[in-house]
Amino acid sequence: MAPITQNPSPHVLSVAPMLDWTDRHFRYLLRLVTRRTRLYTEMVVDQSILLGNRPRLLDFSPEEHPLALQLGGSQPEKLATAAHIGEKWGYDEINLNLGCPSERVQGGGFGACLMLEPERVAECMAAMRQAVRIPVTAKHRLGVDELEDYRYVARFVEKLADVGIEVFIIHARKAYLRGLSPAENRTVPPLRYEWVYRLKQDFPHLTIVLNGGVRTLDEAQAHLERVDGVMLGRAVYENPFVLERADARFFGLNRWPNRLEVAQAMLFYAEAQLEQGTPLWAIARHMLNLFKGQPGGRLWRRLLSERACRRGAGVEVLRQALEQVQAEADRRADKPLVSLATD
Ligand SMILES: Cc1cc2nc3c(=O)[nH]c(=O)nc-3n(C[C@H](O)[C@H](O)[C@H](O)COP(=O)(O)O)c2cc1C
Repeated sequence: MAPITQNPSPHVLSVAPMLDWTDRHFRYLLRLVTRRTRLYTEMVVDQSILLGNRPRLLDFSPEEHPLALQLGGSQPEKLATAAHIGEKWGYDEINLNLGCPSERVQGGGFGACLMLEPERVAECMAAMRQAVRIPVTAKHRLGVDELEDYRYVARFVEKLADVGIEVFIIHARKAYLRGLSPAENRTVPPLRYEWVYRLKQDFPHLTIVLNGGVRTLDEAQAHLERVDGVMLGRAVYENPFVLERADARFFGLNRWPNRLEVAQAMLFYAEAQLEQGTPLWAIARHMLNLFKGQPGGRLWRRLLSERACRRGAGVEVLRQALEQVQAEADRRADKPLVSLATD
């Protein structure tokens, strides 16, 4: 497919917020693969920001921009304060989670169950908007439980647009609040891309970002015929190099990242992080899929899984794994030549 050349929306391509996955270390890795794809933090609960260890929750590397902070919460004042702190911390966008159906999140009265309370969501988002100058955006589903009706989700979007929300990231399926695990809630309810396309038709002035089940940049680009942006989640974690051509195709940058170079840069990053007390595994666990589908990819994964989680493991684990993968790749690259010669 031809690259996108005309001014893309800042939301044209993004990586989804994923609890336990899109922490600062994984985001740093992604930034080595793609400079401009928008990144989101894991969801951070407003209350934790108000009372908890802010540097631990909010710190990020300057390279991670453009970067959005995703908040969870359901009380306007707390969300507004947390959003304000996020802006001061340097984030480029504040996003509100209206799509997570986990029991813990429901217990806190936020996430997907807020789709049942559009008035309250509008109040929260209005308060957040008042508290910051950066964009405040919503990430939601198409409905919850039996509330699966296009008119309902359209009214929900309209209500938030009325308080000034302009960017809607829509996981294109509903959520079941009972009976399904969070993982099942990402596979069982059917995807309804048509509804997301229709939202764009009905609200052409809003930025509509489609999320859910998108596996490749080709698929993303096809959706972009109908919406303003596409957000990928699991596909990126399972293989960060799915974004290999993102900068060239979506942002007009002439870059072609290379796995070995990314691994080498991560080694330097890990070195600096380890000096600050970060255990190697906190970083290496996100690197397991870096060579997915490549010669030496399984060896890399095995070496890291076995050695990087050991107490006191240092960056030499990464260095040695990298050397072995490189040797394996060289050996495989040689193979066809050898067999040609003997034919
Ligand atoms: C491990 C994991 C954690 C997630 N955590 C969050 C989260 O913190 N906030 C959120 O809005 N969505 C969360 N999600 C949902 C994703 O953002 C995304 O909406 C969903 O995975 C569908 O996109 P995909 O099919 O491209 O993965 C999570 C998904 C996964 C797999």
